[in-house]
Amino acid sequence: MKAVVWHGKADVRVDDVPDPRIEEPTDAVVRITFTAICGSDLHLYTKLWPAMSEGDILGHEPMGVVEEVGAEVTHIKAGDRVVIPFNISCGSCAQCSDQMYSQCETTQNKSMRKGASLFGYTKLYGQVPGGQAEYLRVPQAQFGPIKVPDGVPDERFLFLSDVLPTAWQAVEYAEISPGDTVAVFGLGPIGQMAARIALHKGAGRVIGVDEVPERLAMAERHGVEPLDFSAVDDVTDAVFEATGGALCHASIEAVGMEAGGSRVDSVLQAVKVQPDKLVALHGAMGAVRRGGTLSISGVYGGSFPMFPLGDMFDKQVTIRMGQANVKRWVDDIVPLLVEGDPLGIDDLVTHRVPLGEAPKAYEMFQKKDDGCIKVVLQP
Ligand SMILES: NC(=O)c1ccc[n+]([C@@H]2O[C@H](COP(=O)([O-])OP(=O)(O)OC[C@H]3O[C@@H](n4cnc5c(N)ncnc54)[C@H](O)[C@@H]3O)[C@@H](O)[C@H]2O)c1
Ligand SMILES: [Zn+2]
Ligand SMILES: [Zn+2]
Repeated sequence: MKAVVWHGKADVRVDDVPDPRIEEPTDAVVRITFTAICGSDLHLYTKLWPAMSEGDILGHEPMGVVEEVGAEVTHIKAGDRVVIPFNISCGSCAQCSDQMYSQCETTQNKSMRKGASLFGYTKLYGQVPGGQAEYLRVPQAQFGPIKVPDGVPDERFLFLSDVLPTAWQAVEYAEISPGDTVAVFGLGPIGQMAARIALHKGAGRVIGVDEVPERLAMAERHGVEPLDFSAVDDVTDAVFEATGGALCHASIEAVGMEAGGSRVDSVLQAVKVQPDKLVALHGAMGAVRRGGTLSISGVYGGSFPMFPLGDMFDKQVTIRMGQANVKRWVDDIVPLLVEGDPLGIDDLVTHRVPLGEAPKAYEMFQKKDDGCIKVVLQP
């Protein structure tokens, strides 16, 4: 089969690799019909490349048609349309019983001291071949795959694999009450959907922070107040002003460890005065009011010496974070996919390309060329 294979830093190729097959009675094999590229893949593409190995198959946002199931997989059968959560979880261990599916004890990578295995996500997370491929072996398929009902567009369900549950969790963890003011840092797919979900759940105002014009414009189309961080001296001051000094009840960080900053930030990073890349996180922390909540969905790896613990302590901020526990939120989200499109999911994908064009698509998504916000690959 053809698959998107990692060869080196910023070098992915579409290679011929062996077809996957059932290896365990809890496996399924799925023929992939749609599979998206995520901001998390960009971390693997460049920043986290030491954790990658040449030959790794990328991708964790797939859906498709079941080809074959193992003997212990009974809730889906050959021919069913399914979407595959990016966490690989057993559904029955102590963590899964608490719906902490991204910490599943059965698939956890204890030797690496990491959480549940994830599709296409480095040797730290199980080195499981990913879903940017013609076929995918799905471990723990007695629990993971979600059956897609007939009569709804595939693409809307595709985002149950990651984007929607991640954005939903970001908003849940932000503990928003009706009328609250919320800041969302980063208006990639995760930030876009978190902002819309926050409004859907009753936030009074959502301020969306990014610097990319088409991303700010997309957010504005969905009722978000855009704030271009590259056009202001200090983003915290800008949020302070926009809220009459009140700041925000909650701040959602949807950028992660490759945040871009002002020219001043770049200089500070270059001379190692500010060795981290926590620009967006600092912004999100600055935007939250005293006693407020900071919800981090952007991915971080390693330790960060510049974390301003003292400021967070003084402001009495609640911080919640982590990989999304995908299946925990599915029942909340599905009604919003089948009864119209209240979250406007049909306005998210900017590029649909054949799997063979993945290398170009990665480059385009990384550089944010051609208005690229979300890419769906079609094997
Ligand atoms: N927690 C999870 O389970 C989970 C799941 C999926 C994705 N993620 C993570 O969420 C993050 C966002 O994912 P995405 O697909 O939307 O990625 P993306 O790369 O498309 O979006 C990131 C956005 O942040 C903006 N940005 C950069 N620096 C900024 C700054 N200083 N302030 C404000 N905005 C800034 C960029 O312009 C970009 O629009 C990534 O870190 C990704 O790894 C986490
Ligand atoms: Zn993803
Ligand atoms: Zn489990």
